[in-house]
Amino acid sequence: MKGVVLAGGLATRLRPLTWVTNKHLLPIYNKPMIYYPLEAMARAGIKDVLLTSSSDHSGHFESLLKTGENFGLRMYFAIQKNPKGGIPEAIYLAKDFAKDDNLMVILGDNIFNFNLKKTISEFNKEKKGAIVFGVKIPTQSKQYGVIEIDNSGKVISIEEKPDNPKSDIAQTGVYMYDKRVFSFIKNLKPSARGELEVTDLNNQYLKEGTLKCQLIDWWIDAGTSFDELLRANNLVAEKVKNGELQ
Ligand code: DAU
Repeated sequence: MKGVVLAGGLATRLRPLTWVTNKHLLPIYNKPMIYYPLEAMARAGIKDVLLTSSSDHSGHFESLLKTGENFGLRMYFAIQKNPKGGIPEAIYLAKDFAKDDNLMVILGDNIFNFNLKKTISEFNKEKKGAIVFGVKIPTQSKQYGVIEIDNSGKVISIEEKPDNPKSDIAQTGVYMYDKRVFSFIKNLKPSARGELEVTDLNNQYLKEGTLKCQLIDWWIDAGTSFDELLRANNLVAEKVKNGELQ
């Protein structure tokens, strides 16, 4: 299993904080945001991680993360020419890096303390498929992908930011894919907002019957608004102080 962490996008919702600085370099309590997904990769036992970002900011990540040895990782860097091409477009940059390995993808603004190790070892035994990680959210939100599952945990549908969410399970920015992910990405067309959508990618695995969903207990997408950024800072401070997060 190799890792991909996405740190592109324009982060327009966080301007003026992000006019000059990349969103994933903003502080979350005592560390830059990007440390959290990288530490999640290291906790999971992943060694090789590709970080994707725009040409404006790639050098900043290289200066900060260097070889990755401080995290116990080997870091690689790739530039996404169109910073808003969409999540699958950024994942596609990992094609040569991944070779024939499975891929663990984490969005650079996602913070969680779940240890992915066990799920990775189970996933590596499967011949094909993908896993999405979901989290129950208190209100049915319109800012995330929404995963509908049945009583046995089987995925019924995933919709990207629907007006009428069919469940209270948000699709997090944590995904595992088999090596066919790149051919699935090739089939995608831009959505109404002009991007390739991760939900459309995941729906191809769903259609094939090889998509699974794993629920995690807490997770935060720190990049959606000033309020979520503030909430992430406060939550992380609390979890670091009570030992739930390093
Ligand atoms: O965080 C979870 C949500 O992430 C999911 O619930 C949604 O299904 C999924 O589409 C995504 O929604 P967002 O609207 O939050 O995606 P956003 O455009 O904010 O980008 C998420 C991360 O991916 C962010 O860290 C920047 C990075 N990114 C995004 C795009 C569009 C890239 O690196 N390149 C890109 O082209």
